[in-house]
Amino acid sequence: MDHRPAGNPARPIDGAAFRIAAIGDLHLKTAIPQVMAEELVILDQTVDVLVIAGDITESGRLPEVEIACELLAAIKTPIIAVLGNHDRRGVRRRAMRLLLERAGVRLLDGSSMVHVCANGRKIGLAGVGGYGGGFWPEESPDHLSTRLSKAVGVRARREALRLQTALDDLALQESDAVVVVMHYSPTVSTLGEEPPLKHWMLGNSLLGRVIDDHRVDLVIHGHAHLGNENGQTPGGTPVRNVALSVTGGPVVYEVRSDRSVAPVSRPARSTSLDAAIDAHVPIGHIR
Ligand SMILES: [Fe+2]
Ligand SMILES: [Fe+2]
Repeated sequence: MDHRPAGNPARPIDGAAFRIAAIGDLHLKTAIPQVMAEELVILDQTVDVLVIAGDITESGRLPEVEIACELLAAIKTPIIAVLGNHDRRGVRRRAMRLLLERAGVRLLDGSSMVHVCANGRKIGLAGVGGYGGGFWPEESPDHLSTRLSKAVGVRARREALRLQTALDDLALQESDAVVVVMHYSPTVSTLGEEPPLKHWMLGNSLLGRVIDDHRVDLVIHGHAHLGNENGQTPGGTPVRNVALSVTGGPVVYEVRSDRSVAPVSRPARSTSLDAAIDAHVPIGHIR
């Protein structure tokens, strides 16, 4: 569905709603695509927060981080982000975090926060990178056991526990809705055309179980470049895969006062935008 922000969007009919813009897997390397910069800056007039679902950079090198900061510092909308596996490839991670925070990015990593919108509504956000590990019962344990190393299982459980802690903390605070941001997927339902043999690299069902054990209104993730946008956890929590190669640009969701989630319409994408995105993110070649 095509629903990036329109250039002159109306405010929500439901005055108690809030809008979340989301993007993931920018994989910034040497330059900021002009169309991406324009689309992100225009969000300033239309949304309450921008969330970034990881893989902001291609390899976490500081020159890439500086390029990302140049882009993100120009955006006035509050930015909340998690890191992806590509961001974690760099060796100077502390410097990377500092640069991003100086550019106005609030990084969540097994942590949570409450953002107060202009209309007074409070968005609870929990963020964690997540990890692979695979999905069951959708995919049989036998299938998984031949593929999972012990180390993957340990890290998958650790990340699930960190998400649980973040959501437990959030449950103690007052909020009108809860949004989880992660890089890996908590469900197979957003993996689309990803080869089943690679599913164990794309997320795990422990994350979905933690989400379903809490009151969560929306989950936003990236990482599955060949996936599809709309899915849900086994318990029915809405999940959106916002990897750039899936959505084509930032997408906007409206969380209404009844806690339902709806996409916000956007105009048709231009040919030049297609070309710019295709040139910047070779679909299927990076993850
Ligand atoms: Fe990734
Ligand atoms: Fe990616």
